Amino acid sequence: MDNRPESRDPEFLLEVSDLVQSFAQPRGILDRLAGKPQKVVHAVNGVSFAVRRGEVFSLVGESGCGKSTTARTIVRLLEPKSGSIVFDGEDISKFSASEMMPVRKKMQMIFQDPYASLNPRQRIKDIIMEPMLFHGIASGKDEAHEKMFRLLDIVGFRPEQADRYPHQFSGGQRQRIGIARALSTNPAFIVADEPVSALDVSIQAQVLNLMMDLRDEFTLSYLFIAHDLSVVRHVTERVGIMYLGFIVEQGDCDAIFGNPMHPYTKALLAAAPTLDRIVAAEPLKGDVPSPIMLPPGCPFANRCPQRRDLCTTTRPQLREHSGRIVACHFSGN
Ligand SMILES: Nc1ncnc2c1ncn2[C@@H]1O[C@H](COP(=O)(O)OP(=O)(O)OP(=O)(O)O)[C@@H](O)[C@H]1O
Ligand SMILES: [Mg+2]
Repeated sequence: MDNRPESRDPEFLLEVSDLVQSFAQPRGILDRLAGKPQKVVHAVNGVSFAVRRGEVFSLVGESGCGKSTTARTIVRLLEPKSGSIVFDGEDISKFSASEMMPVRKKMQMIFQDPYASLNPRQRIKDIIMEPMLFHGIASGKDEAHEKMFRLLDIVGFRPEQADRYPHQFSGGQRQRIGIARALSTNPAFIVADEPVSALDVSIQAQVLNLMMDLRDEFTLSYLFIAHDLSVVRHVTERVGIMYLGFIVEQGDCDAIFGNPMHPYTKALLAAAPTLDRIVAAEPLKGDVPSPIMLPPGCPFANRCPQRRDLCTTTRPQLREHSGRIVACHFSGN
């Protein structure tokens, strides 16, 4: 199974192993005086996965399960607490800001909120040309202009729209501008953090289709993040299901959709039924545990309809089962 790569396999563009990320919460003066220990949010707890060249890999899970933190750590907006991030054969997990510069060209990010992620004072043409000039992709303004018009055309804009500002466009259009900006540095890898969640359902498919067309045209690999499995269903080859900073099930999308094994995956699928698939599962009860006090056993134990004593005391490890890996003491037994 290739989910925990042991070696730097050229087939993989990205190999993430045992990634850990946490945030120390600021301590008030009274807590400090009282000698109370600093609280730590354990956002990502040993996540491993790999993305093949040309592949779409998705991370899916409810709000707060650590998807964005994983993404931001991989693109090194955050420094990992531990673990390795091998991108295009190089371990970038400890790269300095200057070492990251050439990597940033090849690794771009598309954000959930196309309103907040575009500078409102910049014209569209400058938004797209800025990364090209910054990274020396275009040798001068003329070449940058030419490339900018080509990118605008590819994402569906007319040349005269280049002089407009972000507020003159709709949400879906702004996300397409964000995509053009991401493409401007000729990346090999795009991390798309909930790229369509803020858009109307009717627009979501358009943007997803565009992203998939671009994958073929530019030989892109994507790390795609979503909280809704139905969004990634038709665009992803493999999927990792996250819960409380852990991957609880991971493997081929078809295998997981066709036969979900982890009780949490079943609950997620049951919450988003489609015409071709109905999963029998009880609706989830109870709350996600606090990421400050991780439970000693299975992270899902307090909500799991199949819980037994072992689940509350011993954390299940990921093991291979029916074409995927799953972290459950009793799934498949
Ligand atoms: N900068 C930060 N400082 C402190 N805690 C943080 C920070 N960023 C994220 N967290 C916490 O880390 C956990 C994971 O958050 P994250 O944003 O990665 O989740 P997510 O899966 O992307 O959720 P969503 O679907 O809402 O975007 C949450 O408990 C969150 O409150
Ligand atoms: Mg997020």
